[in-house]
Amino acid sequence: MHGALEDITKTVGNTPIVRLNKVTKGLPPGVEIYVKCEYLNPGGSHKDRLAWNLLRRAEEAGLQPGGTIVEATSGNTGASLALLAAIRGYKCVFVMPDKMSQEKVTNLRAFGAKVVMCPTAVDADDPRSYYKVSRRIADETPNSFYANQYHNPANPEAHYLWTGPEIWKQTKGDFDAFVAGLGTGGTVSGTGKFLKEKKPEIQIVGVDPVGSLYYDFVKTGRITKPFSYKVEGIGEDFFPTTMNLKILDDIVRVDDKECFLMTRAMTREEGLFVGGSGGAAVAGAIKWAKTAGPRLLAAKKGQGSVKILVFLCDGGQKYVSKIFNDDWMRENGFLDDEPGIGTVADILHLRNKRKIVTTTSTAKVKDVIATLKQLGISQLPVVDKGKLKGIISEVDLLRHMVSGPKTAGSSIAALLESDYATVTPDTKIELLQGVLADARAAIVTEGDAVVGIVTKIDLIDYLAKKSAEVPVVKPKVSKKKPVKKANGARERRA
Ligand SMILES: Cc1ncc(COP(=O)(O)O)c(C=O)c1O
Repeated sequence: MHGALEDITKTVGNTPIVRLNKVTKGLPPGVEIYVKCEYLNPGGSHKDRLAWNLLRRAEEAGLQPGGTIVEATSGNTGASLALLAAIRGYKCVFVMPDKMSQEKVTNLRAFGAKVVMCPTAVDADDPRSYYKVSRRIADETPNSFYANQYHNPANPEAHYLWTGPEIWKQTKGDFDAFVAGLGTGGTVSGTGKFLKEKKPEIQIVGVDPVGSLYYDFVKTGRITKPFSYKVEGIGEDFFPTTMNLKILDDIVRVDDKECFLMTRAMTREEGLFVGGSGGAAVAGAIKWAKTAGPRLLAAKKGQGSVKILVFLCDGGQKYVSKIFNDDWMRENGFLDDEPGIGTVADILHLRNKRKIVTTTSTAKVKDVIATLKQLGISQLPVVDKGKLKGIISEVDLLRHMVSGPKTAGSSIAALLESDYATVTPDTKIELLQGVLADARAAIVTEGDAVVGIVTKIDLIDYLAKKSAEVPVVKPKVSKKKPVKKANGARERRA
């Protein structure tokens, strides 16, 4: 028929770029944010581009229709592969972590795919993890292809060959920064590589959720303790080989609450029905723009505005039972009318705003021991030139004194540990318990600055004080009626 496309896969790509007009209020004048609406792809996300390239490469290597595609996927890659598989005649088996929304599972099954669920709260190299289970299924299924998006070079290649050139053609290179959430790294590594080749001064900025490994690694070179978070599709607890962190000019960290509130604002104020990682990317871009925007603007010397392009991966439909459900948002403390048991800032406040004590990596073992003794604490964050370098604790010092070269005069540089997680003042206390079960301490950072350290005993102390608090109830001013007390008992006022 005239005007018809050969099949639905021909609608992948050419996604629109749209300016944000409302959620960006408060940005410095002259700083603009635009979004690339990848969620309008037929498979529902940017992973349609990846699926095309993965299958193209697999077919070049001999894969024949009728075979089985196996993948570890949090949903979107599965949806895109399932769509392509339906058209090209492949079977699909997808392995997912169990934190994923029910909508994503249902979506995959709708295309006839088999879905296997695995526990989220296990290490990536645990045999029960979704990475390991998917590999095993691929090994055991004859005539199968393991898509392996975390380690398949066809992933960043898809964005190098397609997303990057498409953005360049659409914008004619008229923008200053590209901001994207970091998952497998395919988007940022492939698109970033292409854009940098065309215009090296374009800033490539990654957005990472609090709890993921990437942020600390980029900022400090340390592999800290990852912990769980709710936003789907971004952040990792291991390093995929598809990720090229060197392509990044900067990295921004966002927490679940800011991601989800921005996701809802994007829908309600901009009419962009995006998923949580889209909200994360825009929240991160706005944060970044507040500090980097004026710098970029000054460098332009009046030659036009600063334009930031943000990549929106998937749509909101898959999250209606979570991000767009007030009960779920409230239960998780993401709505402001449900404060929960507090945030890390409350713990720091309770400790009488005691100034954070840090040391440097050139400090001597004996001096650090003296500081720990004097302050009655067990560890210190190590900060060089304002940047967090690691943690030094009494256990490391003890090990050094017992089995290392017995020189109390040597520096602590070789003794630094990564056995900590980094959190922000806004991190919820509900999360800290899990963080501290695994890590020696939680170091509190605001941007690059270290503003506090929280250990198990601080958390216990806070919770004990909190549970001892008598709730303050404002009595109703009435002479006749009984007043309801906090515990439900009633008394008569005189
Ligand atoms: C919803 C969502 N956002 C962002 C990403 C991150 O993209 P990439 O894997 O290309 O880094 C993913 C990847 O799974 C995703 O599903």
